[in-house]
Amino acid sequence: MSKILRVALGRRGYDVHIGSGLLTRAGALIEPVIRLKRAVVVTDSNVAPLHLATLTKSLDAAKIAHREIVLPPGEQTKDFAHFSKLCEDILTLGIERGTPLIALGGGVIGDLTGFAAATLLRGIDYVQIPTTLLAQVDSAVGGKTAIDTPQGKNLVGAFHQPVLVLADTATLDTLPQRELLAGYAEVVKYGVIRDAEFFAWLERNGAKLLAGGGAARDHAVRRSLEIKTEVVAADERESAERQILNYGHSFGHALEAETGFGSTLLHGEAVALGMCLAGDLAARLGHWKQDEAAHVKRVLSAAGLHTSLAALPERVRDAATLLAHMRRDKKVKGGKITLILPRRIGEVFVTADVAPATLLDFLGNAAGSSAPADAVSP
Ligand code: NAD
Ligand code: GLY
Repeated sequence: MSKILRVALGRRGYDVHIGSGLLTRAGALIEPVIRLKRAVVVTDSNVAPLHLATLTKSLDAAKIAHREIVLPPGEQTKDFAHFSKLCEDILTLGIERGTPLIALGGGVIGDLTGFAAATLLRGIDYVQIPTTLLAQVDSAVGGKTAIDTPQGKNLVGAFHQPVLVLADTATLDTLPQRELLAGYAEVVKYGVIRDAEFFAWLERNGAKLLAGGGAARDHAVRRSLEIKTEVVAADERESAERQILNYGHSFGHALEAETGFGSTLLHGEAVALGMCLAGDLAARLGHWKQDEAAHVKRVLSAAGLHTSLAALPERVRDAATLLAHMRRDKKVKGGKITLILPRRIGEVFVTADVAPATLLDFLGNAAGSSAPADAVSP
């Protein structure tokens, strides 16, 4: 049974379908929301052999002509070089303003394709078909599109909403466990920022969810997306409430930049560490108790996620370097680093009041803790 949520953004509003097996019906679902029955599908070389044929068969059935572009997988594809080649390849296919792009893949393909759609011919439509847990619960919805630069994560991009999102939970059956776990970090994020009951549910059902398909996984995707669609509808451009979705991200982005946007640390793994750091900092500043910070860490580590900076190679946990990355974050305002800190499970707040010296001292302590047995290899 699939469920449909609406991102209520007036003219830019769109439906988000969630359910198992949607890919087989994708053509029929896409056909009513596109202007030209000619689409360009963008995917990566991991996803293509697993899911592209199902999509193209459904496009054929809906009489939507299509061309495909297959990119290399991984975060390193989200750079200027791949963006520029993607745009030129799409232009070479001879698109018009009514030609939609279809992003089939994880957050990398979604962000890159979305940014291409935002800029090609000054803006064309695109459909998100997310195939990772992370992309289904987060990146495919909300219209944030971007690429990374050596200066930092997602620093070049645009807000550009898709016209439709199809989150087919069956596609997660082929996702490697490490990627599933990385997405799980973003699921836990929703519990911490907005819904204590969901957090408690995850504590009870996390293992079931991570063990495979079924009702628990579908429920987690659905509840996460209910929260995401509400927050995005309330604050599309992140001028207020949407900032809470960045919980764990200021620290996480710094770690990603320092580890080189590669497989040493996946985005979701960085967010998990970032949430733990935000929780510890909030405890240190007296906003909540250390045992609440420990509670979040227990839920993340029970799933198998790292919860301490000590899990990273020593060369990437220099406090001053991490702080320098945080100063370049998009969320810096008037030179002040914006942080999302928890007050209790289910409620966070936005602050720009943490002094850089406090942050530096905090990061120095966090980075100096002794390495656990499960440390990530350099
Ligand atoms: P990803 O796109 O790199 O996908 C992870 C890996 O899984 C890749 O190797 C991919 O080829 C593979 N894969 C994807 N679907 C698969 C499937 N069904 N079966 C087997 N393999 C599959 O990474 P991600 O974690 O999905 O996304 C991370 C990116 O999302 C980051 O760049 C991050 O900045 C971005 N992001 C964006 C937003 C936003 O609001 N736009 C929010 C969160 C994250
Ligand atoms: N992933 C954060 C946001 O969409 O705002």
